[in-house]
Amino acid sequence: MELTFKVNGHPERLELEGHETLLDVLRDDLNLTGTKEGCREGECGACTVLVNGRAVDSCIYAAMAAQDMEIETVEGLATSDGLNSLQNAFAESGGVQCGFCTPGFLMMLTALLDKYPHPDRVQVRDALSGNICRCTGYAQIEEAVERCIRQRTIE
Ligand code: FES
Ligand code: FES
Repeated sequence: MELTFKVNGHPERLELEGHETLLDVLRDDLNLTGTKEGCREGECGACTVLVNGRAVDSCIYAAMAAQDMEIETVEGLATSDGLNSLQNAFAESGGVQCGFCTPGFLMMLTALLDKYPHPDRVQVRDALSGNICRCTGYAQIEEAVERCIRQRTIE
């Protein structure tokens, strides 16, 4: 089966057997290993990517369902100037320790901030309810969101 879609703005065409998940295709066929495989059951959020702007767990998303869609992964966040404001805010707020969960948090928050540029803390917590971090703690991640919003407001 042929899958054609765009990943981080680049057109891609792949021959698949049909049973692959979007996570498999991103990591194994396109070598985009920034998207992490954690539980592989839709429970931890480590594999979060955007499909036409909507955050999905790519470990339980059939690759063929992405036909003609636009996919965005963590590799697509940085700009030619370097890390984007959300990534910088994570670094400056201490929102990263081992970093395994970070791509998933970044993609979930990208979807949230695209829809609600000024979310309140309840909206942030709701959005992140499916993302698990085992080491940083969520306070620094919430601080990173607030830092990012402040930064984007003065840009
Ligand atoms: S690896 Fe997909 S939700 Fe955990
Ligand atoms: S930074 Fe280690 S799991 Fe979140």
